[in-house]
Amino acid sequence: MTAGSRPLVLVDAAIHDEPFAELEAIAEVKRYAHNDALERLITDRGSEVVGLGPLLSTRVDGALLDRLPSLRVVANCAVGVDNVDLAAAQERGILVTHTPHVLTEATADLTWALILAVARRLREGEVLARGESWAGWHPRLLLGKELHGTTLAILGLGSIGTAVARRGRAFGMEIVYWSRRHKPDLEHALGLRRLELDESLSVADVVSIHLALAPETHHLIDADRLARMKPDAVLVNTSRGAIVDEAALAAALERGHLFGIGLDVYEAEPRVHPGLLDHPRSVLLPHLGSATGPTRLAMARLVAENLRMVLDGGLPLTPVDHVTPAEPSRFPNR
Ligand code: GLV
Repeated sequence: MTAGSRPLVLVDAAIHDEPFAELEAIAEVKRYAHNDALERLITDRGSEVVGLGPLLSTRVDGALLDRLPSLRVVANCAVGVDNVDLAAAQERGILVTHTPHVLTEATADLTWALILAVARRLREGEVLARGESWAGWHPRLLLGKELHGTTLAILGLGSIGTAVARRGRAFGMEIVYWSRRHKPDLEHALGLRRLELDESLSVADVVSIHLALAPETHHLIDADRLARMKPDAVLVNTSRGAIVDEAALAAALERGHLFGIGLDVYEAEPRVHPGLLDHPRSVLLPHLGSATGPTRLAMARLVAENLRMVLDGGLPLTPVDHVTPAEPSRFPNR
């Protein structure tokens, strides 16, 4: 930055504009339309950049950070931060922020949309109702799974997992959870039971994943763990794709294991494993967990506020390293 010039902040152009007005008063905010444009901006002006507002599809690793020697803050537009190398940022004294809480309810709603869609075979029903072959009401047509009185296992009891559990109570389900930590208050308030991971998988009729992706959760749900699930269970993932081994999941479905699956996230987005695409009982969404107007605007506000507060010399609102008594810092979703 030259004397008198304003600090430079690079923000993905897909993030809502309105919340950035205040930041623009104190910084030059450059929007980039895709990762190639970001690359060009970094090549031309990398040494000036003090703030970055990326999407979760931008990999922010040590090599990229080395090209941004003045960078002070990465304000990720997502609650998950697996696209950011947190250790590399910490080594360089760069703050990382994310967008927790504001997307909790929207993501929990979408999780339930998937649970219901799989359990009640909405995809197959949709195709039938729109096609020529529907012959009318039939007592054995597209029979689904009853949820009331069955068991929901929540893997990862952070704010989203908790919001999913709360909805599960309204559906009359028994709820078990697996999390690194015991959460006695939530257990008491929502009537939950904590089980070990393998036991959660084996007792559940519906398994819903709400973990952060980290080396220890990568392919946590592998062939062995899938085999522990009931043969007619439903698996739903709205957290990060790579927590499930997609090839193993496709193979499990292929041999008729599981009632069905509902996925919002994939190992190599936007690519979906062909074995998942082909299966009639897979309901697949294009990473829509937080996709409501108010939630996406709230996320943009948090990105802008976090950048502004750091540039102003203060602490950001939602740093990833912020450790509350309830949640460990590396696992914002847990
Ligand atoms: C979306 O997946 C997010 O992490 O916010």
